[in-house]
Amino acid sequence: MALRFDVVTLFPEMFAAVTDFGISRRALERSLWQLECWNPRDWAENAYRTVDDRPFGGGPGMVMQAGPLERAIQAVQVARVARAAQVAQVGMAQVIYLSPQGRPLTHARVAKLAASEGAILLCGRYEGVDERLIERCVDEELSLGDFVLSGGEVAALALIDACVRQLPGALNDEASAAEDSFVDGLLDCPHYTRPEVYEDLPVPEVLLSGHHENIRRWRLKQSLQRTRERRPELFAKWLAQRADGTRGLSKEEAQLLREIELQELCGRDNMNE
Ligand SMILES: C[S@@+](CC[C@H](N)C(=O)[O-])C[C@H]1O[C@@H](n2cnc3c(N)ncnc32)[C@H](O)[C@@H]1O
Repeated sequence: MALRFDVVTLFPEMFAAVTDFGISRRALERSLWQLECWNPRDWAENAYRTVDDRPFGGGPGMVMQAGPLERAIQAVQVARVARAAQVAQVGMAQVIYLSPQGRPLTHARVAKLAASEGAILLCGRYEGVDERLIERCVDEELSLGDFVLSGGEVAALALIDACVRQLPGALNDEASAAEDSFVDGLLDCPHYTRPEVYEDLPVPEVLLSGHHENIRRWRLKQSLQRTRERRPELFAKWLAQRADGTRGLSKEEAQLLREIELQELCGRDNMNE
């Protein structure tokens, strides 16, 4: 079954951002993935379609009620099972609540989700959702980062977009996703395009040389250097993985790291002069 996202949201219109634009739109048109939005107001119990109420214990804001959300999730599961039965598959899906209190989203999690049959994405609003709904229905909480968004929709859109670009056939150039940041544990190298000189800043000469081997080596060195400088914790993880693995650091990687360290020492010496 293709990657499928069922999104429980008060704002289904926001998902036009992935259905109507760019790579995700093209991938949708190619039937590489599917999306359906489910508005919990359709499972509200009163004529006003209320889905939120004041928090017990007092305090500011409103809380999304468990009932409409649970009924919406059940309806999605029923529809998933019915659809899967047509192709003799199990249809129940994992439920992911986008939440600032969840585990931070990583490339590894995105890649795993992209290779699965997808998930039900629950988008909170207001102060969040009733904790009992999380206890009863949510399998996993994922966070976009240590900051608070007004709603889970932007986080769900980011998750969907990141997954869809991993799908074979989604990008025009298959290689580009494989060379992105995080795929091999490092940040991507810098990129340049025309003109060759922009505001007195030239493109690094090696990129104009046409020498593929030198270009590849320069790019790897840039990735190593950037990751080491900008994301020391990511770099330490990459080094540890190399040390744990059977292959260790390649000769080339070790040589490039020595060059980077030497450059750094020379830079420090120049500053001290
Ligand atoms: C205003 S926030 C509620 C924040 C909650 N009171 C707290 O401090 O943990 C409303 C909704 O936005 C979503 N949200 C906010 N920040 C997020 C983040 N960093 N990652 C994923 N979802 C987020 C969640 O779905 C949340 O229920």
